Amino acid sequence: MAAPTVLITGASRGLGREVARRLVEEGFTVLAGVRDPGTMKPLPGAEVLPLDVCDPASIAAAGASIRARHGRLNMLVNNAGILLDSSEDALALDPVVLRRTLETNALGPLALTQALAPLLVKGSRVVNVSSGGGQLSAPSNWAPAYCISKTALNAITVQLAAALKPRGIAVNAVCPGWVRTDMGGPGAPRSLQQGADSILWLVLKAGPDISGGFWRDGRRIDW
Ligand SMILES: NC(=O)c1ccc[n+]([C@@H]2O[C@H](COP(=O)([O-])OP(=O)(O)OC[C@H]3O[C@@H](n4cnc5c(N)ncnc54)[C@H](OP(=O)(O)O)[C@@H]3O)[C@@H](O)[C@H]2O)c1
Repeated sequence: MAAPTVLITGASRGLGREVARRLVEEGFTVLAGVRDPGTMKPLPGAEVLPLDVCDPASIAAAGASIRARHGRLNMLVNNAGILLDSSEDALALDPVVLRRTLETNALGPLALTQALAPLLVKGSRVVNVSSGGGQLSAPSNWAPAYCISKTALNAITVQLAAALKPRGIAVNAVCPGWVRTDMGGPGAPRSLQQGADSILWLVLKAGPDISGGFWRDGRRIDW
């Protein structure tokens, strides 16, 4: 049987790169979606796919390339994300920053999933890398653009889960915890491996009927 094919967005560094590296080890056919392949450190065993999740032409080209080279997709990890406003509160929120953050963290994953849905086969999984910052059950005034975008991504997750359920495709959101990456910073309590484990649980270990939930470390968390 052919190895399952997985696309991970934002695989140039941080959690996306670690998830891609681990899935190469697991024997997946790994498509590493990266904005600028020229500047990326080599990722042995992965096929680098140019992909900017904010650019409709880039999404269309990536979809055409996957169709031509692989004919199908078994897993999509919507991991690419930005955090631009960690020092602001909602009263100072710049609408330009909000729009850019929504485009990257919420509308990009939606557009990419829509474009790739025809390639997803029964039993496929879509994993949206969200954040505890998007939980409406745990309100804060930290990083409003980022948190609003992750709340939107969670809502998109629920909608896509319902839309793809008839085709036997699972869609979930996951929080990796606070992780030492460029985004999380050096003071974060979690290692790259711990953060990636939280994401990989949904790719490798969750039961096939699990869909429409929000997870951290294999446990359901509140929206
Ligand atoms: N680190 C944490 O503590 C933490 C906590 C909760 C959730 N998360 C989530 O986990 C995910 C990964 O975070 P990280 O910590 O690994 O962040 P990171 O180290 O800053 O890496 C972000 C990745 O996203 C890519 N990216 C940004 N905009 C993109 C676009 N328009 N198209 C394609 N790729 C794009 C970046 O590519 P370039 O190299 O081209 O910039 C990079 O590969 C994000 O969704 C983040 O919100 C992280």
